[in-house]
Amino acid sequence: MSTRFQAVSIADYEEEALKVMGGDAIAFYNSGSDGEETLKENRFSSTRYRIRPRIMRGISHVDMTSSILGHSITFPVCVAPSAWHRFANLKGEVETAKGVTSAGVVMNLSSVATVRTEEVTSSFPDGLFFMQCYCLGNKRLQELMLREAKRQGFKAIVLSVDCSVISKRRKQFGPSMLERINSEMLPINYMQNEESSRRAEEEGPAAFLEYFMNMAHGATPVGLDFIRWIKDTSELPVITKGILTGKAAREAVEHGADAVWISNHGGRQLDFSPSTLDVLTEVVDALKGTNAEIYIDSGFRSGSDVFKALALGARAVFLGRPILWGLAVRGSDGVRDVLDIIKEELRLCMMLSGCPDINSITKNHVINESDYLAAKL
Ligand SMILES: Cc1cc2nc3c(=O)[nH]c(=O)nc-3n(C[C@H](O)[C@H](O)[C@H](O)COP(=O)(O)O)c2cc1C
Repeated sequence: MSTRFQAVSIADYEEEALKVMGGDAIAFYNSGSDGEETLKENRFSSTRYRIRPRIMRGISHVDMTSSILGHSITFPVCVAPSAWHRFANLKGEVETAKGVTSAGVVMNLSSVATVRTEEVTSSFPDGLFFMQCYCLGNKRLQELMLREAKRQGFKAIVLSVDCSVISKRRKQFGPSMLERINSEMLPINYMQNEESSRRAEEEGPAAFLEYFMNMAHGATPVGLDFIRWIKDTSELPVITKGILTGKAAREAVEHGADAVWISNHGGRQLDFSPSTLDVLTEVVDALKGTNAEIYIDSGFRSGSDVFKALALGARAVFLGRPILWGLAVRGSDGVRDVLDIIKEELRLCMMLSGCPDINSITKNHVINESDYLAAKL
């Protein structure tokens, strides 16, 4: 960890994480799928949207508080599920949760968390945790995981619907990562009280990793009814993550989803899938008349990026890699700092746009560059 490191923006954390992390692991975190077209798109899509400020609104401070599924959060930026935090910090997800809970926002735990979920949830009893899961090949195991989530106090299940198979990634686990997986860490949350999971564990890390990959990404042929099953079994609200069209959003909600999460998985799954900001309006229109909340992620790196998503109709923005960069560079302090940087940028953006609170950020505050130029002709 660099003691003198001080960041002005998220880009500083990205640059520093490249220096402090091992080459294999940061390449794994930062890479995307196939030709990385969607990954590149995520970097630039926000620049196509311009902010239209109101002036002289008599504002001396802004209120950034909001809520998710009825739970209060200090500002509408939360933490997306990402696997393998122990590559960034030896304490893994416990360290991440320390930063996130101190910031007063939601943390998603990946079902490939490298620390037992109970260790995380019991360390921060006041934390707001959502549990991410895949559509597993073993329904019994899935059922056990869902019941555990409820018991451990998770507030919602995030069902990732864009991962039935793993895409062709630019950079999968490199040799140094495999070495560490073999010697010290596993996606241990799949081991809970289930026969096949326990047997695979006993066979050793390589067998267990293979077991897990087949279980989570072995093309389990689930249909939309699965959403209702997850909801009924877990007795928790369900969020479908990986929605990219209005039709998919509508279908998910009709089948029981309480919220939809627009995501292209940070450019790591279907290449050439669109930027999430570009599909937000379509999803908002498709969900008119429902109570479903809309979240978004993939490529959000600044307060003005967040402002644009809120203006176009998202209730909250989730961060993936920036949290991992913060974790790698300064542990929980880095995680907290990443969130604080974005929060301060959002505050300034709201002040400069004439928005005293989150609800006053409307679609009139943002315009796509192409419409803007056309309007001026
Ligand atoms: C290293 C890494 C691991 C991830 N692991 C998961 C996961 O286990 N489950 C999941 O639903 N999404 C996972 N994601 C996707 C994130 O939840 C999120 O959609 C994405 O990172 C958002 O894009 P951003 O990184 O540009 O902010 C992962 C992303 C990264 C970068």
